[in-house]
Amino acid sequence: MMTQNKPKNFDVKDLSLSSEGKQRIEWAEREMPVLRLIRERFAVEKPFSGIRVAACAHVTTETANLVLTLLVGGAETVVIASNPLSTQDDVAASLVVDHGVSVFAVKGESTETYNRHVQTALDFRPQVIIDDGSDVVATLLKERKSQISDVIGTTEETTTGIVRLQAMERANLLSFPAMAVNNAQTKHLFDNRYGTGQSTLDGIIRATNILLAGRTVVVVGYGWCGKGVSMRARGLGANVVVTEINPIKAVEAVMDGFRVMPMEAAAPLGDIFITVTGNRHVIDGLHFPKMKDGAIVCNSGHFDLELNLTALREISHQSKQLRPFVEEFTLREGGQRIIVLGEGRLINLAAAEGHPASVMDMSFANQALSVEYLIKKRGQLAPGVHLLPEEVDVEIAGLKLKALGVSIDTLTSEQVEYLTSWETGT
Ligand SMILES: NC(=O)c1ccc[n+]([C@@H]2O[C@H](COP(=O)([O-])OP(=O)(O)OC[C@H]3O[C@@H](n4cnc5c(N)ncnc54)[C@H](O)[C@@H]3O)[C@@H](O)[C@H]2O)c1
Repeated sequence: MMTQNKPKNFDVKDLSLSSEGKQRIEWAEREMPVLRLIRERFAVEKPFSGIRVAACAHVTTETANLVLTLLVGGAETVVIASNPLSTQDDVAASLVVDHGVSVFAVKGESTETYNRHVQTALDFRPQVIIDDGSDVVATLLKERKSQISDVIGTTEETTTGIVRLQAMERANLLSFPAMAVNNAQTKHLFDNRYGTGQSTLDGIIRATNILLAGRTVVVVGYGWCGKGVSMRARGLGANVVVTEINPIKAVEAVMDGFRVMPMEAAAPLGDIFITVTGNRHVIDGLHFPKMKDGAIVCNSGHFDLELNLTALREISHQSKQLRPFVEEFTLREGGQRIIVLGEGRLINLAAAEGHPASVMDMSFANQALSVEYLIKKRGQLAPGVHLLPEEVDVEIAGLKLKALGVSIDTLTSEQVEYLTSWETGT
């Protein structure tokens, strides 16, 4: 990959980490064959020539490969962190040193720095915004109205961001197209389920080194992420309890073989609690006092508000850091010790490396093709939330199968005819 001049502006932890970052970016690239194919095409077609793209993402090895794909396609790019704890500092350094990208991301940055970086991304006057959680778009709509007309469109990586975009659309505030990358089948069926499933447990294990076999793990939310987390926790020998508010998801969890109950009933049973709802305070102040001494709580949903840590602090008389990403709170009444991982931020990115590259390959193929789609359809798409056309989803799955060396059947002409007619019955 090309080496460019160092950009004028950037904010990363330590540029001397770049060689380690470069090696890890290349390691991830090996597992991203679909994105590689797209990159090869972009190198020839240059679909983003001269387009300013601001990417707000978890600055990981996989994101670096997405950014390099945009660069090869001709984009001018600025990259900021989508979460204060998810940045891989070596990757951020390599993007600056080896690829000349303006990166503003430091692991452990304060909320003020995070917000300042969002402003920096908007100072760049982006025409396309790649967002993860919709903070850049929300700030644009609230504080930079004069720049809205610059924007060709946005792409949104995660469930929570799409929920926010839909709320903006309902309020008639979204005046450009937004590609719901998360809603592509080749994104959420794999990234949210298998990616979050594996990497969330990886984060918990790296932070604590606890054995999951025989423990009771309470998974809060049985959506795409919750299904993955529950499945993998069971695979490691845990007794999994699910809490839900949606009757259909709750029935699904029951039929998948999990115990389902309200949080109040689950609180005394759990050894480990994992929230993946995209909702706020799903473990609230009233739940902590019901928990066992030594209960571990963490979150893998997008924002750090799923656990009500303000309430936990109020009912605790002391807290101490036991290990990196492991903080213990002692309750004033009852005296139980409640252990919070990763400050309640996405544990898979705070304490581990996020999703494996192989699954991000499809998510970021969707991102790259969504940016291309926005540019190709510039001026033709109505404002609001859009899905990539289904044939693109199918194409990405086909490329992934090819890369995995898996072939499948095709319909015979007799079957096509049968499936498109109504005359034949028994
Ligand atoms: N950690 C990661 O790397 C990662 C990856 C993908 C998505 N996410 C985030 O994870 C969250 C979940 O994503 P998803 O795709 O599974 O969403 P989803 O909509 O498929 O599932 C969320 C589930 O939570 C349930 N829920 C809502 N409030 C609840 C409550 N009070 N108690 C119990 N259950 C409740 C909903 O009914 C739903 O079934 C989102 O914030 C998303 O942005 C994180």
